[in-house]
Amino acid sequence: MDKFIVNGGNRLVGRICVSGAKNAAVAILPAVLLAESPCVIENVPDISDVHGILRALSGLGCTVTPLSRTSFEIDPRGANSYIVNKEMAKGMRASSYFLGALLGRTLRAKVAPPGGCAIGLRPIDQHIKGFEALGAKVTIESGMVVARAEKLMGGSVYLDMVSVGATVNIMIAAARAKGMTVIENAAREPHIVDLANFLNSMGADIMGAGTSVIKIRGVEHLHGTSYSIIPDQIEAGTYMVAAAATKGDVVISNVIPKHLESIIAKLKEAGVTVEEGDEFVRVTMDKRPGRCNVKTMPHPGFPTDMQPQFATLLAIADGTSIVTESVWESRFRYVEQLTFMGANIQVDGKSAIISGTERLKAAPVKADDLRAGAAMIIAGLVAEGQTEITDIEYIDRGYEQVVEKLTAVGADIKRVSDENLGYSLKAN
Ligand code: EPZ
Repeated sequence: MDKFIVNGGNRLVGRICVSGAKNAAVAILPAVLLAESPCVIENVPDISDVHGILRALSGLGCTVTPLSRTSFEIDPRGANSYIVNKEMAKGMRASSYFLGALLGRTLRAKVAPPGGCAIGLRPIDQHIKGFEALGAKVTIESGMVVARAEKLMGGSVYLDMVSVGATVNIMIAAARAKGMTVIENAAREPHIVDLANFLNSMGADIMGAGTSVIKIRGVEHLHGTSYSIIPDQIEAGTYMVAAAATKGDVVISNVIPKHLESIIAKLKEAGVTVEEGDEFVRVTMDKRPGRCNVKTMPHPGFPTDMQPQFATLLAIADGTSIVTESVWESRFRYVEQLTFMGANIQVDGKSAIISGTERLKAAPVKADDLRAGAAMIIAGLVAEGQTEITDIEYIDRGYEQVVEKLTAVGADIKRVSDENLGYSLKAN
């Protein structure tokens, strides 16, 4: 299995270009199934979760033609199946979006239960509540989620909690339902707006995306389109934190600063200088970060997907900080790995009390999930010595060319595989 070897102590200096947003791409790509002609999707991040979705689309009978490393033409006219089995779902959370897409396309869907990062139970009861509001019946049959409908009629659903996935899935299923659908207590993330914009570019009639009330007036036909995915605000935020932690000076380009507001605010609270341009932010830091408290919230609050990364910055801050995770029930598994590196963190239920230490020390650590893996990279960049990070397949799910991007701004990080390591030892 591959691992990262990080030698800490280098300042990050230079420019990093952000890729397309993972959580927008994994919602938009399944939605192509609603179109009656080919779609061209650009600025698609080159990451394993997206590769999985593209393979599933092919498995359903779509023709997927790569136009470049980050753009694809997808022709859904050949789709002749409504089943996404365990192999196709590949344990990805986003595989659940095929429920809404296939239900919207053929009034039936059979999808393996969604997986995803082990950050808590990943139920889909709100997704199902939404499908039922549209007139679908949803059952579990031999471990598969089965949704079917005579026809889909617009309906109203008030989400019990703000759910990105449920908002995505209901929007997709409702796009071609007959009549008006209203989602209340909807998620407001940038990727929700991006999905709505994509569907509207196909001829859908969606209003209010980005607010907590989204209205979808169903249309009979959706045509193909060309669409470019928004930049990934979590990838951008991750590199912003890495720049701050290493006392660096990094321009992070191809961003939408408005999507980064809560991250910028918290970095400034920690004493970091952030300059905002039209499509870039510049992060500079020349001292140890100050303490601050963070509470994760649905957008526009501080994003839960930035929690492990920011906690790592606070682990070397001057003072004690409290990080409260209000979205997921267990998103502190990475803390144990940070304590192996000398961090002083106490987890108490939904909060972590972080007493900043001057330096972290290298240690062998693992990526417990995607964002935990990103936190391990940040910790390795600032730790004394050589940090080895295993289980990096989690990191490859959401960070395109992470070694190349970090190396280009001065990080000492390498990807090695046990086989190569064995080979190089043999060769000597
Ligand atoms: C999406 O997950 C993201 N994944 C997650 O990012 C992100 O952490 C999360 O939204 C919150 O922003 C993708 O977009 C692929 P939710 P999702 O439905 O849709 C509960 C990353 O690192 N809930 O907003 O699964 C749920 O348990 C990943 O990129 C229900 O109870 O999250 C959680 O406590 C990790 N029933 C809360 O709501 C449901 O039917 C928010 O979940 C749905 C959700």
